[in-house]
Amino acid sequence: MIDSGAHPDSGVPYIPVARAADPHVKVHDLALLEFAGPDAEVAKRFFTGFGLQHRQGDDGSLEFSAEAGAPVAVIYRQAAKASFVGPTFAVTTVAELEQLAARTGAAAPAPLQLPGHPPGVILTDPNGVSVKVAHFEAWRTLPACGEAALVNRGDDKPRINAPRRPQRSPSRVLRLGHMVLGTPEWEATARFYIETLGLIPSDVQALPDGRPAVAFLRCDRGDEPTDHHTFVVARLPVMDFEHAAFEVPDLDEVGMGGQMLREGGFRRAWGIGRHILGSQIFDYWFGPDGRKFEHFADGDLFDAARPTRYHAMSVAGLSQWGPPVPSAFLRPKLGWHEVLQLLRNLLGKSSFGFREIKLMANAMRSASLPD
Ligand SMILES: [Fe+2]
Repeated sequence: MIDSGAHPDSGVPYIPVARAADPHVKVHDLALLEFAGPDAEVAKRFFTGFGLQHRQGDDGSLEFSAEAGAPVAVIYRQAAKASFVGPTFAVTTVAELEQLAARTGAAAPAPLQLPGHPPGVILTDPNGVSVKVAHFEAWRTLPACGEAALVNRGDDKPRINAPRRPQRSPSRVLRLGHMVLGTPEWEATARFYIETLGLIPSDVQALPDGRPAVAFLRCDRGDEPTDHHTFVVARLPVMDFEHAAFEVPDLDEVGMGGQMLREGGFRRAWGIGRHILGSQIFDYWFGPDGRKFEHFADGDLFDAARPTRYHAMSVAGLSQWGPPVPSAFLRPKLGWHEVLQLLRNLLGKSSFGFREIKLMANAMRSASLPD
């Protein structure tokens, strides 16, 4: 299943990122994300302006919902310090939760402290991030979005006497699509998500020494096509939530959604453009606690038969078209806690040291483009 090769700049063979022969479970999707921080007011304004529906949780937390997926897509709890609590993934049966608990040694499935108290299992990833896997009775499939608007194109111009006026409102957010986790412990983290949750690598971007820098992982739904990536593991000097992305119906929903966020006083992180790996039309915005959230539309879907592809890591490889990547987009958010973590990682036994910083800097300057 591996379409390997060599890094075009160095000629060094890519180190494969293999699928798990027998994963503990195969999760169906990413369900929700939990954050804590001091920016509850900003969180409420940002996520509603972004297009999610807000309601107050039983425990005083802020809950934000999309149209499909788990009943709640984002939870934000008031706290003195900003933190990413962790992701929750969905499985389609309770039996899978029992299997996951038995095979990992985690506590048996029990109602989780989440809206609706779905049964679930709590794991901890190699970075100490709490990873929940739950079964949602009330999981919602994607809604119909109606017929696509007529488009005048070349000699085919069906839209006559009908000016195009997309609604001036926040984006229609269909579902939580994916998240990216940055980690200095790349290998252990990628193996955890692949072997525990059954995620499979769609595309891998590698450093000039052949080691993976970013793996785009998708859910294994067999013959049923699924998003190109649901969870991404990125080699970064500190562990942190990098961004999360939400699906909207089309380009106008991306563009008008961004317009509404800008008028709401929020700052664009990067966009609008079209990615290469995943092909989505994208637009990134800075939300509460300086974290990035993305609207996307028209992404690739792969079934499980599609093999893993390998590419050189490069900034040029992030988009097919779009504005240049702002430096603020790539810079990890470094508070004192992260600076200390960075120093500890560089000087200690972490797998992200000065050599990795140099390799990443070289890689980002590479002109190599993925197919
Ligand atoms: Fe993304």
